[in-house]
Amino acid sequence: MSIHILDHALAKHHITTLRDKKTEADQFRRLLRRLTTLLVAEATKNLASDSYEVETPLALFQGKQISHSIGLVPILRAGLSMVDTALDLLPFAEVWHLGMYRDETTAHPVEYYSKIPKTDPIDVAIILDPMLATGGSASAVIDKLNAWGVQHIYLLSIIASQPGVDALCKNYPDVHYFICDIDSSLNDKKFIVPGLGDAGDRAFQT
Ligand code: PRP
Repeated sequence: MSIHILDHALAKHHITTLRDKKTEADQFRRLLRRLTTLLVAEATKNLASDSYEVETPLALFQGKQISHSIGLVPILRAGLSMVDTALDLLPFAEVWHLGMYRDETTAHPVEYYSKIPKTDPIDVAIILDPMLATGGSASAVIDKLNAWGVQHIYLLSIIASQPGVDALCKNYPDVHYFICDIDSSLNDKKFIVPGLGDAGDRAFQT
C-alpha cells in the first residue's frame, strides 16, 4: 500500500487559503493549480525512464526520457481544474475524461460521460480529482481502469477524508495515493469536515 501525504510547507500554506470560505473562484482555481503542481511533481518522482542521448551545442549527453505511456484521467467536473497544470508537467500524456457526479441523496457516484476505451491500455493512469470524500467516485474510476488493463494507477487528490482513504486502501492496495491533506471525518451529507466545501461548485461558481 502506498499513501503519500504531501509534507510541504507550500502545500500547507496554499491549502489553508483554499479552505477559507472567503477565497473567491479565481483565487480558488489558482490555488488548485499550485497544489496540483506540487502533487504531480511528487507523484511522478520515480516514474520509469530510459536512457536517451542528445547533442548539446558542445557535446553528446546521456540523459533520460520517461519510458511509460501516461494517461491523465480527470473526473469531471472538479478534476478539470487540475488537467492543464498536470499537462504542463507531462506534455506527452494522453487525457481520458470521465464524467461523474455524486447523487445528492445516496452519495453514490453516477457516471455520465466516459472516454475510457476497452483496449490498448496506457501503462500509467493518473486520476485527477481535488476531493476524495467517501471514495465512491474514485473506486468507480479505479474499477474502470483495472478493467481497461492499466498496470500502474495513481490517484491525486487535494483533500480527502480518513474514512474514504481507509476504504480505498483496503479495497485497492496497489494504487498509489498522493494527497495534500486528510481530514478526520465526513458529515451526515458525506461532505469532508472541515474540508473546503464543494471544489467543483467553488471553482466554477455554481
Ligand atoms: C465531488 C468530487 C469527487 C466526489 C468525491 O464531485 O469532485 O468527484 O464528489 O466524493 P466521493 O468520494 O464521496 O465519491 P461532485 O459529485 O460534487 O461533482 P462535480 O465535480 O461536478 O462538482
